[in-house]
Amino acid sequence: MSYNLLKGKKGIIFGALDPNSIAWKVAQRAHEEGAQFVLTNAPVALRMGKINELAEETGSQIIPADATSMKDLEHLVEESVKILGGKIDFVLHSIGMSVNVRRGYHYTDQDYHFTKVGWDVSALSFHRVMNVLYNKQAMNEWGSIVALSYIAAQRVFPDYNDMADNKAYLESIARSFGYFFGRDFKVRVNTISQSPTPTTAGSGVKGFDGFLAYADKMSPLGNATALECADYTISLFSDLTKKVTLQNLFHDGGFSNMGISDEIMSMFNKQEASEEKKTKKKK
Ligand SMILES: NC(=O)c1ccc[n+]([C@@H]2O[C@H](COP(=O)([O-])OP(=O)(O)OC[C@H]3O[C@@H](n4cnc5c(N)ncnc54)[C@H](O)[C@@H]3O)[C@@H](O)[C@H]2O)c1
Repeated sequence: MSYNLLKGKKGIIFGALDPNSIAWKVAQRAHEEGAQFVLTNAPVALRMGKINELAEETGSQIIPADATSMKDLEHLVEESVKILGGKIDFVLHSIGMSVNVRRGYHYTDQDYHFTKVGWDVSALSFHRVMNVLYNKQAMNEWGSIVALSYIAAQRVFPDYNDMADNKAYLESIARSFGYFFGRDFKVRVNTISQSPTPTTAGSGVKGFDGFLAYADKMSPLGNATALECADYTISLFSDLTKKVTLQNLFHDGGFSNMGISDEIMSMFNKQEASEEKKTKKKK
């Protein structure tokens, strides 16, 4: 359903790789809500992905940019302002990648070169993007910048590896840069901490299916889907959330405030009952 929430707004969307990507769904929803935007991704991802289909569907242009390259980001922002015919109202940073995870390095024994690469791509890139937007004064007043995060920034999820540290850094950047963006340009900056979601980046985490099922059973409303995350993102781009800034906003069906759920507890009770039965039999 469309509410024209982004009618006349112009944006840049990072990170749509394939139809599972959260950014893909955000682009589709932003289009439905009347926005115009530029799609961007790393040149290598553009070659592998299906982003042309999305560009056609949403009437968007694609500008390649490696989010770790200031030169690429400067070109992206300059061209986007030209293509869209004015300053930017919203930006989605939907980028994440850990080389340690990909190559199977354990958290306790990282390859620190890979750690640096993953940090640059997943966290520092958010600072870089905002640096370019800020210094080029490319954002309209009451604009909105959103990056995607995960609760491993606050709680321990051992297999999330160095991405946990990257997300903590990302969330901190949102607060620190968000102050200057708010003070100087009335632009808001937030992170959305999303439920585990079956995408290329998500599925890279060891034991992802178990992760997904556990979170679903712990959350009173169940896991939030990519489409639901897109809906929430649209609300943050819209004029209905103008004074929300410097926040890490949990979009996770309630997971972040749970201790234990009946469903998870009943699994352990069953296990306990069967163990008791076995012990009685032995006696
Ligand atoms: N999937 C989940 O379970 C989940 C949960 C919470 C948060 N997130 C976050 O959501 C965001 C989007 O991930 P997704 O799950 O949609 O997966 P995805 O794999 O579809 O998206 C990740 C994107 O990052 C892009 N990228 C990687 N290196 C880049 C670079 N150097 N420059 C520019 N782009 C680059 C990839 O090409 C890809 O499009 C990430 O920040 C991820 O950490 C994902």
